[in-house]
Amino acid sequence: MKKAIFLSAMTIAVANATAIADNTVVLQADKPGARVQPTMYGIFFEDINYAADGGLYAEMVKNRSFEFPYALTGWTPFGTVEVKDEGGPFERNPHYVRLMPSGHNDKHSGLENQGFFGVTFKKDSVYKFSIYMRAPQGAGKVRVELCNPASMDNSMVYASHTFDVDSPDWIKYTAELKPTKGCDKGVLRLFLVHPDKPIDVEHVSMFPANTWKGREGGLRRDLAQALADLKPGIFRFPGGCIVEGTEVPDRYQWKNTVGPVENRPTNLNRWLYTFPNRLASDYYQSGGLGFYEYFQLSEDIGAEPLPVLNVGLVCQYQNWHQDQTIPLDSLQPYIDDALDLIEFANGSTDTKWGKLRADMGHPAPFNLKFMAIGNEQWGPEYVARLEPFLKVLKEKHPEIKIIGSSGPDSEGDKFDYLWPEMRRLKADLVDEHFYRPGEWFLSQGTRYDKYPRKGTKVFAGEYACHIKGKKYNHFYPALLEGAFMTGLERNADVVEMATYAPLFAHVEGWQWRPDMIWFDNSRSMKTASYYVQQMYSLNRGDRVLPLTMDKKPVAGLEGQNGLFASAVSEGNDIIVKVANTGETAQPFTIDFKGIKAKAPLTGLSVTRLTAPDDAENTLDNPDTVKPMTTKESINVTANWSTTLPARSMTVFRFTR
Ligand code: AHR
Repeated sequence: MKKAIFLSAMTIAVANATAIADNTVVLQADKPGARVQPTMYGIFFEDINYAADGGLYAEMVKNRSFEFPYALTGWTPFGTVEVKDEGGPFERNPHYVRLMPSGHNDKHSGLENQGFFGVTFKKDSVYKFSIYMRAPQGAGKVRVELCNPASMDNSMVYASHTFDVDSPDWIKYTAELKPTKGCDKGVLRLFLVHPDKPIDVEHVSMFPANTWKGREGGLRRDLAQALADLKPGIFRFPGGCIVEGTEVPDRYQWKNTVGPVENRPTNLNRWLYTFPNRLASDYYQSGGLGFYEYFQLSEDIGAEPLPVLNVGLVCQYQNWHQDQTIPLDSLQPYIDDALDLIEFANGSTDTKWGKLRADMGHPAPFNLKFMAIGNEQWGPEYVARLEPFLKVLKEKHPEIKIIGSSGPDSEGDKFDYLWPEMRRLKADLVDEHFYRPGEWFLSQGTRYDKYPRKGTKVFAGEYACHIKGKKYNHFYPALLEGAFMTGLERNADVVEMATYAPLFAHVEGWQWRPDMIWFDNSRSMKTASYYVQQMYSLNRGDRVLPLTMDKKPVAGLEGQNGLFASAVSEGNDIIVKVANTGETAQPFTIDFKGIKAKAPLTGLSVTRLTAPDDAENTLDNPDTVKPMTTKESINVTANWSTTLPARSMTVFRFTR
């Protein structure tokens, strides 16, 4: 009796579920379609939100070369110090500081550096300090200290070293500092010990010894590791708007970012003033994280490098500077920058730029294959400039794929004008950007189903879901990004690359959000969007498999109950990605076609990201939203059913 009641209750439940949503999809396992490019899921780095200096680039000293417009920005001088600019060791960074005698043994002349949002050091960690010094009028001593100004200990000094400086010539001095205590908001102090002779100081630098891959002057280990953990296929750099510059001189010039770091000129960072509600006072680019380092990082993380170069236009948003457009007959230096960059990356070591690469430590080529010309540029002025670039580059370097821009919008006049022009010019790919609200992402599941299949391909070069009124990295927008990405995957014959943006943000120095990875000086946190990206990149697959519901793509269409899904094969594995954007759990059945009885699917791993809409990771609670993976044995040749939790992104990997 009990059994009968249970059975009939179950029958009703199943009948209801069927009536509400059957959600059966057909997956053609034996009909592999488009190839998924190895470049499909990547990363885009721009120095915004203190992503470079103060972020990924592990330098701890702000304004180390005294080249900010106010030479002592970031430094607090005491006693008598003078800023000088003649006779320094680095011609492109002429400023240095003279620590002057105070005239009394108990009085000191020196400087304190405030670092980026504080000089943060840890107990017993090693910090590599370096400085260029000379003694112009006879020997002297200079002491460096790591201090905690808020310390209640007898001494605020947690590490120190004293240098004897006796050469009238500039010499690089180094020391390892190992603090006895840690401090979040410390300072680096530098002063004359026996202050009877002046000492000149220049390029004051300090890095943690524990950088990414232990490289001298390298990258912050946790942040670089977070990038490596994404296993990105493509790495776009260095921007973004900073490529354009507000005015011609502040555009990003890669040649200023190679060679010895001491001689790389400081550049204005436009994000200092772009948003009046998030103004910064001290945001400049040291160039320490430059093109060599970007190429090196690409290689380290297994991604294809994708540099973006200026096309001869400044930022068109800041269009009161339109008069600074580079005339067509003056474009050659810009085109030369592109040609020279190819030589720097790929040229033999007996070429000018290939030799520099070798001198910097990488004789082997970096194997550059892609280059973007222009960031978010638009209009006939862009097309007129891109055309000569393409002509020369295609003629001299047909092996390099060139990426053009579709402007700053995902649709509209600029976009509609540029796409046909990019096809006419035979750009290999076009960079599309969309920072759009939730409704846009929900409505764009079939965006690329409608694109022409031949010719110029798509690079979704900057995108993120910006939920109205809530621009932080909570779970719901990440889910919508994941839902939308099923459409990228399904259209892998059209979309060859995609990169979320922006990548990094310092919690004390951001201008733009949401962002993929947040950090302070000692901690970092991966957002829900990071994990969505990772679910895709670790399950990229090789070939698209047809997956349909009622013969239609599963793209949140009417009657599809807010589901988005796509499938790929990877060797013998079948990978299905499904986003349930609905507010309720739903049944989901895959009707596999083309699985032979003698080779059934026998294993399944399920990686799922699900959370309340507003749930978010923070530096204090970095693991609130995180994917979970479970594994099970199965024996499937045809139908397989499961339940998708409400608001969930799931990757099913079926193995044999
Ligand atoms: O990612 C932030 C900015 O957004 C980029 O610099 C620019 O390309 C876009 O407008």
